[in-house]
Amino acid sequence: MADLIDGKQISQQVIDEVASEVADFKQQYDTVPGLAVVLVGEDPASHVYVRNKVKRANEVGMKSIEHRLPADCSQQTLNRLIDDLNNDPEVHGILVQLPLPEHLNEEEVIAAIAADKDVDGFHPLNVGALACGDASLIPCTPLGCMIMLKQVCADLSGKNAVVIGRSNIVGKPMAALLMQANCTVTVVHSRTRDIEEICSRADIVVAAIGRPEFVKADWIKPGAIVIDVGINAIERDGKRKLVGDVDFAAVEPVASAITPVPGGVGPMTIACLMKNTLTAARGLMAKS
Ligand code: GUN
Repeated sequence: MADLIDGKQISQQVIDEVASEVADFKQQYDTVPGLAVVLVGEDPASHVYVRNKVKRANEVGMKSIEHRLPADCSQQTLNRLIDDLNNDPEVHGILVQLPLPEHLNEEEVIAAIAADKDVDGFHPLNVGALACGDASLIPCTPLGCMIMLKQVCADLSGKNAVVIGRSNIVGKPMAALLMQANCTVTVVHSRTRDIEEICSRADIVVAAIGRPEFVKADWIKPGAIVIDVGINAIERDGKRKLVGDVDFAAVEPVASAITPVPGGVGPMTIACLMKNTLTAARGLMAKS
């Protein structure tokens, strides 16, 4: 049976570290890191995520403000809010929860956020820095996955890593981070042929494709490490249930280590958001 990679426990370590560093920050600058979270519309999952982000930020001693806009708000209204937050000296981190309603242009919104307040690491300048290997604000979910991987495998050098999914939020930055850790990286996606065969050669599989229980046991090399980024709500035996992108029950006996869903990557994402907010605040204070 695989070892469970306990995201709750590892994220708590990160949170405790950040909380102690926030206390030092307060001593040094007589102010606390401020995180602004923007939520547009009524998507229920986004509401839950945003509530958890704001709650965690307050728990670590930061100031966190939630800004809600109606689903039909204009691009101009959203851009103006971002502009205000860019210019607010008490705001060190800005996060616009995605996805946005259809009529809004996500790329434009992301590019409007000041790169040094972009705690998601989605701004083109931060994406470029990551590609060059010198990023300070790294997308939270892949950063959380790397921290978990390093807990079970101190030296990732030379490992074959397969990333399933090519999103800007997870797949692409994950591949960049694994390459930086000297892995040999393959990215597979919805149009890839022979995903099973490619996966079966991997020492590390990161599943981020957004399809419930997509990864099967016979795709996994015995002893591989499996990181499951998926959070999919399904109905089973008449009950609502959250499952990952990996068929956990079948894969667990084959892998050497695996993240559960829930309680794996999810809490790490929020912990890394706190880490990034502190990083952004330090960067801004050092400049001012
Ligand atoms: N939606 C799903 N994941 C994320 C994330 O990491 N950041 C933002 N802003 N929106 C998301």
